[in-house]
Amino acid sequence: MSSLTSIYLDHAATTPMLPEAIAAYAEAAGAGPVNPSSLHAFGRSARSRVTAARDALAESLGCSPAEIVFTGSGTESDNAALFGAAEVQRARGRDGIVATAVEHPAVLNACRALEKRGFRLTLLQPDETGRVSAEDAARAIDGRTAVVSIMAGNNETGTRQPFEEIGEIARTQGAAMHVDAVQAFGYERWDLQKLPVDLLSISAHKIGGPQGVGLLFIRRGTPFEPLLHGGNQERSRRAGTENVAGIAAFAAAARSTFAGLEEKVRRVEAVRAAFLSGLSRELGEEAFRINGNEHFRLPHIVNVSFQGISSETMLMNLDLAGVAASGGSACSSGSLQPSHVLSAMKLSPDRVRNAVRFSFGLGNTREEAEKTALIIATISARLRIT
Ligand SMILES: Cc1ncc(COP(=O)(O)O)c(C=O)c1O
Repeated sequence: MSSLTSIYLDHAATTPMLPEAIAAYAEAAGAGPVNPSSLHAFGRSARSRVTAARDALAESLGCSPAEIVFTGSGTESDNAALFGAAEVQRARGRDGIVATAVEHPAVLNACRALEKRGFRLTLLQPDETGRVSAEDAARAIDGRTAVVSIMAGNNETGTRQPFEEIGEIARTQGAAMHVDAVQAFGYERWDLQKLPVDLLSISAHKIGGPQGVGLLFIRRGTPFEPLLHGGNQERSRRAGTENVAGIAAFAAAARSTFAGLEEKVRRVEAVRAAFLSGLSRELGEEAFRINGNEHFRLPHIVNVSFQGISSETMLMNLDLAGVAASGGSACSSGSLQPSHVLSAMKLSPDRVRNAVRFSFGLGNTREEAEKTALIIATISARLRIT
């Protein structure tokens, strides 16, 4: 990381830990040896920390604490959901997997691995804004579908999917419905008791919690077998000693996030709007295109292609100027491969090559957004001259 970096616009990759989460982590980690499976007093106090965290997270999701399984990441939650439901469904004569072509690699590559194991994979193609349609989903989901996996909001473009409508279709057909909510969690209020969702993945480090902690909601009665085999932790749904301090910090981050959710949304929307109007003013409307859906979207992500400037060139120059952004998802940004999300949206090769993702968070200000727009205009002018 450049020591100059002072404007962090990469919150979709990871967020800085909230002070409440750091305090909760330090408190739990400093409390002595803590294994919630131990029967002695140390163990019991660890268990009560995990129970309190589970209760808080269940409240933020509108589900029962018993329906929450702590995992080691959003990636693990996605894999556990897909493999866990698919194999049980196969034993019931269902062998179809339906997902979108714009899923995060944690879902997409898990689906491809299931395909190698004999499942039939159908990927729903998005429109040019990155959104799939419930009509296409209805055509793809049938009585042989085992699992449907639809992300709530996309990590590269912010485009929101109609997962609620697709969940109703999955339910009618008896398929298990999984939602990767890693990017959307903490920006919307959900009541999982009412939503047609059986499995839902979340990751702590996207909402100001620590890395290496995730959560999988498993609705009571959902076909599921564990990915990890071992001890009886998490009611035998995820073996392995719990990350007690990480779980406590995750819950602290969720409590803080949901206490101020509407304010957080308002703030990141204002920063995003200031950034886009800054770009129009400094660069001109013709010099950039927004990739994604302007109506159905998450508040904190905007994906922009700058005419005639490759994403690598723009990102390098932004980094030199102290601005941290990203090209597509963090996992593929180091590999120079064109984004599978933007490619699935059938954008022109130039637009795919020139795409940069800016993602905002609580710490950002409108001034930072305007300064970034100005920096981009300066970079563009310099590159056009040289
Ligand atoms: C939509 C989505 N799903 C899953 C993941 C993976 O989460 P984790 O980093 O906790 O493994 C990410 C991370 O970027 C994501 O954006």
